[in-house]
Amino acid sequence: MDLSGRRYGCFVIVVVMIIGLSGVCVYGQNDGDSVGAPMVKTEQEALYYAIQGFVGQWWNGSDLYPDPCGWTPIQGVSCDIFDGLWYVTELNIGQIQDNSLPCAQNIEFKPHLFQLQHLKTLSFFNCIISPSQTPISIDTVKWDAFSATLESIEFRSNPGLTGQIPTSFGNLKKLESIVVIDNGLSGSLPANIGELSYLKRLVLSGNKFTGNIPESYGNLRELLIMDLSRNKLTGSLPLTFGGLTSILKFDLSKNKLEGEIPSEISNLKNLTLLDLSNNNISGGFDFANQEMSSLEELILSNNPIRGDLMKFNWKYVNNLVALDLSHTGLTGQIPESISIMKNLRFLGLNDNSLSGNISPKIAELANLSAFYVHGNNLTGDLKFPKEFYQKMRRRFGAWNNSNLCFPVTKMSESIRPFGVKVCREGTS
Ligand SMILES: *[C@@H]1O[C@H](CO)[C@@H](O)[C@H](O)[C@H]1NC(C)=O
Ligand SMILES: *[C@@H]1O[C@H](CO)[C@@H](O)[C@H](O)[C@H]1NC(C)=O
Ligand SMILES: *[C@@H]1O[C@H](CO)[C@@H](O)[C@H](O)[C@H]1NC(C)=O
Ligand SMILES: *[C@@H]1O[C@H](CO)[C@@H](O)[C@H](O)[C@H]1NC(C)=O
Ligand SMILES: *[C@@H]1O[C@H](CO)[C@@H](O)[C@H](O)[C@H]1NC(C)=O
Ligand SMILES: *[C@@H]1O[C@H](CO)[C@@H](O)[C@H](O)[C@H]1NC(C)=O
Repeated sequence: MDLSGRRYGCFVIVVVMIIGLSGVCVYGQNDGDSVGAPMVKTEQEALYYAIQGFVGQWWNGSDLYPDPCGWTPIQGVSCDIFDGLWYVTELNIGQIQDNSLPCAQNIEFKPHLFQLQHLKTLSFFNCIISPSQTPISIDTVKWDAFSATLESIEFRSNPGLTGQIPTSFGNLKKLESIVVIDNGLSGSLPANIGELSYLKRLVLSGNKFTGNIPESYGNLRELLIMDLSRNKLTGSLPLTFGGLTSILKFDLSKNKLEGEIPSEISNLKNLTLLDLSNNNISGGFDFANQEMSSLEELILSNNPIRGDLMKFNWKYVNNLVALDLSHTGLTGQIPESISIMKNLRFLGLNDNSLSGNISPKIAELANLSAFYVHGNNLTGDLKFPKEFYQKMRRRFGAWNNSNLCFPVTKMSESIRPFGVKVCREGTS
């Protein structure tokens, strides 16, 4: 978008010259005070001071970049033309590339930042590294100035950034993307983010957020990605989540969430990824009460979910590619119907209390490339064809099933799966 904007800008100047009104250009080239393309002085100054707040007093924009939207572009800054004038539309602070703007020890959100009238994208990457003497947090007051323009805000890899997400983010009505990854932010999640009706991406992973997930987040009908993983969120999954009708990816892994998986989840027809691993989710596996034919990855490992694997409706999730139910307190047998999931590549059922035999039908899953059942109470002799063991090797894990054995008499010892004993004659 910025490039086409710039090309458009050159085009305008060329046309102006051709018509003979070359005054604009000549003026630009000869006058040292306002070189190059037309840019309102207040906008230009606001840009310089805003950047200076982040990179330090040594940075003199008017000296280094006299024409920031024209012939002396600043790395990380993009511009566009509105009513014939240049405005800044994108500001990326921090070490994205070698020559991008590095951040000062003590960054400062100068009031000038909020004077950029057409700012659509603001990002901070690798900027606030170590905690400074005065803790650095996201300025809380002036964000409303961006309520009609800002579409994307990003704070990524700023471990020195502390404090909360300002509730004023909820007033940025144009926001389509909030990405807040791997910072030192804490506190609760602002409920009014749930009112951002254009929001498509909400990624808040790798911080220290606490408290419940606001019920209002279920109102985000345009949302495609919700990633709240790697925080300290508590409480249960809001029942309102059935309202996230557009959602594709849902990652709430590595929190302290509890309660059941609401059956409302199975309303989400476009959901491809559901990752609730490493929480304290309980209440069994019967959440799928209708078809979830888009679902490709279901990752629920490391939760005390419990329940009988035989009771799950595999036909509702028959397009799964990855299913991880390891360490979930599962009981019962491994149902033969699991093999209706023809696309399955990864199947993790290890470290549960599963019993009974393993059906050789699982070997019919043509794309299966990892199958883990170790740490259960499975019994009997393994009846997979030779080719299965040859294909899988260590990616078939069956150790720590004390009553499981491998029938060497029918097959070569060399393909025996790791940690599985040889069947004694006549025990099968
Ligand atoms: C930048 O340098 C010019 C002289 O080259 C000076 O007039 C101006 O005050 C400086 N600006 C800042 C913000 O330091
Ligand atoms: C689900 O995805 C399909 C195909 O990408 C799309 O046409 C449809 O609008 C989506 N449904 C919702 C509710 O977003
Ligand atoms: C997990 O949830 C149960 C209630 O279902 C609760 O008793 C237990 O303390 C929780 N465990 C942790 C580690 O939070
Ligand atoms: C197996 O994977 C291949 C390649 O990714 C794919 O084309 C094929 O449809 C898959 N087969 C099944 C049965 O899912
Ligand atoms: C494993 O199964 C056997 C019966 O096959 C039973 O006696 C034993 O208690 C089970 N062990 C566990 C840990 O569930
Ligand atoms: C087998 O189980 C024991 C006890 O549960 C555990 O200590 C050991 O690490 C397991 N072995 C493997 C290879 O997972």
